[in-house]
Amino acid sequence: MSEPLDLAAFPPHFTWGTATSAYQIEGAVTEDGRGPSIWDTFSHTPGKVDNDDHGDVACDHYHRWPEDIALMRRLGTAAYRMSIAWPRVLPAGDGPVNAAGLDFYDRLVDGLLDAGITPNITLYHWDLPQALQDRGGWTSRDTAEHLAAYASVVAGRLGDRVTQWATLNEPLCSGWIGHLEGRMAPGLTDLTAAVHASYHLLLGHGLAARAIRAAAPGARIGLVTNHSTVEAASTRPEDVAAATRMDGHTNRWWLDPVHGRGFPADMRELYGVDLPERPGDPETIAAPLDWHGLNYYFPVTVEDDPHGPVPHAREVHPAGLPRTGMDWPVDAGGLETFLLRLTDDYGVRSLYVTENGSAFSDTVRPDGTVDDPERARYLEQHLAACARALRKGAPLAGYYAWSLLDNFEWAYGYDKRFGLVHVDYTTQRRTIKTSGHRYADLIRAHRRLHT
Ligand code: FCB
Repeated sequence: MSEPLDLAAFPPHFTWGTATSAYQIEGAVTEDGRGPSIWDTFSHTPGKVDNDDHGDVACDHYHRWPEDIALMRRLGTAAYRMSIAWPRVLPAGDGPVNAAGLDFYDRLVDGLLDAGITPNITLYHWDLPQALQDRGGWTSRDTAEHLAAYASVVAGRLGDRVTQWATLNEPLCSGWIGHLEGRMAPGLTDLTAAVHASYHLLLGHGLAARAIRAAAPGARIGLVTNHSTVEAASTRPEDVAAATRMDGHTNRWWLDPVHGRGFPADMRELYGVDLPERPGDPETIAAPLDWHGLNYYFPVTVEDDPHGPVPHAREVHPAGLPRTGMDWPVDAGGLETFLLRLTDDYGVRSLYVTENGSAFSDTVRPDGTVDDPERARYLEQHLAACARALRKGAPLAGYYAWSLLDNFEWAYGYDKRFGLVHVDYTTQRRTIKTSGHRYADLIRAHRRLHT
């Protein structure tokens, strides 16, 4: 049994939201002047995505967004984390603005605000314009500059109504999974490219933060990073050292530079790749932020793997932890631990959980309902972890459940369902799952505490 949720730990104005991203839900990939992104290319390369799925139609959100806003209202969420597709706004990555693309987001933002839902906009959730990839993508410094120019266009148009902005989503996945492991677009397996990409992503973050602030002075700007707690599989010194390396690779490499500590020396030495540094970059990368977004899904346990790829640490499955449909171990304690690490170690003064959720295989029952008790339990356990972190002083201001809808789960295609709302991809019918109803109940109960 889950522990009862300590709802009184959540402050009165706590933000309850859901999250999605553009390529995962929008579809309409050739409509209204949108250019191709690296995910169009990757997903249309045979063998890259399970079942050769792609985002051409996805949840058809591009056409069904009013219905999706109505779903948010039914859930009672007051905030929505979404991303903007860079190739809709600037089809070639730089150069002329595509007015029709920008108009779509203008209408969507107005629709959200009319429904009383606050948008929290992420500028880059992995869908780099293919034209920029053709010029080197994130391995090129120019891409960081282009991100800032794109940020300025979007914030200039929407900044009169949108205050919550994030520059990047999970640069770790773009950098490491996209350029080192090759499991995500652009699908490279090259350490030098990966280190350079990671550097330019964080540089782009800093430049974009500055550009948003200039275009929308009232903006509250954050960065969204994904993290796992890392433990050694044993007390053997080799495993303990492997855990330190994995923590550096997964956590410190991304957090230290943004918090003014520079890139960690032990990891620089391990990678053995010169960073494309220029004077002034450390200050740009450490641009002051208004909040930090944590995406947390699972903890990691490692053992030494001296002959494996960097960081020479192999993940092992600790006994006794349940697993989701992604085969990810479930341990809500890791969320509490990481919220407190950001608070105590990094001194973050305003925090959001910008993603957290679970995939399980759901089925629509004959009566049309979708019962997903495991996802509901995952949600409650992780909210309980948020409550404990709040009681211990974490400045947690909001929680965005991943995801509003089942959607295109990157290299896993449509088989992995994370939604609080089920999507039938044949009919595009949406059905709120038991977990969605549970979330709505909790939000209502929290509201009642403060009225
Ligand atoms: C995160 C991504 C998000 C989604 C979840 C399950 O890494 O940011 O788009 O795919 O995982």
